[in-house]
Amino acid sequence: MTIRVLHVASELYPLLKTGGLADVTAALPAALIEQGADARLLLPGFASIAQGLADLHPVARLERTFGAPQASLELGRVPGSDLPVYMIRADAFYSRPGNPYLDDEHVPYGDNAQRFALLGWAAAQLVQHADPAWAPQIVQAHDWHAGLVPAYLRAAARERGLPQGRSLARTVFTVHNLAYQGIFPAQQFANLGLPSDFFDMHGIEFYGQLSFLKAGLYYADKITTVSPTYAREIQTVAQGGGLEALLRGRSHDLVGILNGVDYTVWNPATDGSIAAHFSADHMSGKLRCKTALQARLKLAQKHDAPVFGVVSRLTEQKGLDLLLGALPEIVSRGGQLVVLGTGDASLEQGFTRAARQHPDAVAVELGFDEALAHAIVAGSDVIAVPSRFEPCGLTQLYALAYGALPLVHRVGGLADTVVDASLENLADGFATGFVFERFEPDALTAAIRRAFALYARNHDWRDTRTRAMQQDFGWAASAQRYLALYRELL
Ligand code: ADP
Ligand code: GLC
Repeated sequence: MTIRVLHVASELYPLLKTGGLADVTAALPAALIEQGADARLLLPGFASIAQGLADLHPVARLERTFGAPQASLELGRVPGSDLPVYMIRADAFYSRPGNPYLDDEHVPYGDNAQRFALLGWAAAQLVQHADPAWAPQIVQAHDWHAGLVPAYLRAAARERGLPQGRSLARTVFTVHNLAYQGIFPAQQFANLGLPSDFFDMHGIEFYGQLSFLKAGLYYADKITTVSPTYAREIQTVAQGGGLEALLRGRSHDLVGILNGVDYTVWNPATDGSIAAHFSADHMSGKLRCKTALQARLKLAQKHDAPVFGVVSRLTEQKGLDLLLGALPEIVSRGGQLVVLGTGDASLEQGFTRAARQHPDAVAVELGFDEALAHAIVAGSDVIAVPSRFEPCGLTQLYALAYGALPLVHRVGGLADTVVDASLENLADGFATGFVFERFEPDALTAAIRRAFALYARNHDWRDTRTRAMQQDFGWAASAQRYLALYRELL
């Protein structure tokens, strides 16, 4: 039986990306199709999505608009791919340049509750044959933006008088990041058009407010998150964001499925954004990438200086304040640091100041630059991801593929994907990077020292790098796990 599944999300690489979510929504539906599923995607019609999709044509008018003058569904596809993508055309809501969630002042748009309620409601309409040619059996909603999908489906089932427990489609809610909860003032509830009893502790109410994330966790048939370790962590007080009790209560419906890498986008043997190609068997191109990176960022041209790279959102989550503190350790030992990122002003300033102090050894580029991200991963010896928490993390997976050994904090998906270069792991042939346990300066510093020590042992470094590059984190295995989950639901 071919399973028809609709993925509902707010980002899609390469059209609109603020983080790893976009990489996942591009690759996972495609991997599901590869495994025989009939997968489609639903997105808000943000300016870059509306401009970037090919063959867009109208499918249906949407009767409810949540305050926008009009809204409709269109169907198109990503150029160069066959993945069908539904898009909500509601220009008053979505046709705003820049960040999809925040205005120019980095403040969330005042009408975000309505903008993303429309997304959830439109998904429920697709289940109810808004497109006469196709309707999903499974809807997988990603992050708080799509959190209302299961709630609208539950409400629609009730309206149609389906018996308790019967639904119009089965739902999966996927948590990419529990820190973003989609919280809105309680007054907004009246704008959502949900039954009044849904505003309840057993429902979408969260400490007197609304939480779109909680709605997803509460009403979905299954909950997934993007790594097995994060699935455990979010059931604890320390990392549950106030939702740990709900998550523990649903632990039988909660599963961690690791993200994958799209090796057609992240492959050093074919990557069009890097100075030279290389692979585990032909590594000479890696040095050329490093030299090119040093030249581009005006760092000292030193072959033997280990380059530490960072490609990251600059937020509290990513733990880069700790790295900033450890910077003297890297520089004084003759290493270099390259940072590409954008976000918190204090981090931007901190790294910029460091670059000014050590122009030969530290370079910082503020902004979002896909091509430079590839060049940094290709040209670095180490990629640092010292996150406080990390649901999965894709950067360390890309780093492995490009022979840049990941240096990571042992949390979430980082713990599930990188093996520390301890003496025993080196001896047993398991090591792929550097892992530190405690989120404290001395623990990070020790990991940095381990990186320098291994770098000085040429043979061990090459061995570890080859092993890192041979790891397979392709999407096929994860897609099979999602399919097994869908089958269980059906
Ligand atoms: P998160 O989703 O929490 O930001 P991930 O590691 O899952 O973390 O994914 C981050 C994605 O965003 C990767 O594809 C990474 O290359 C990309 N990225 C992050 N910051 C930048 C940036 N400043 N420029 C280009 N790409 C970036
Ligand atoms: C989130 C998480 C990141 C994860 C990504 C894709 O942004 O912070 O860890 O890799 O989503 O699932």
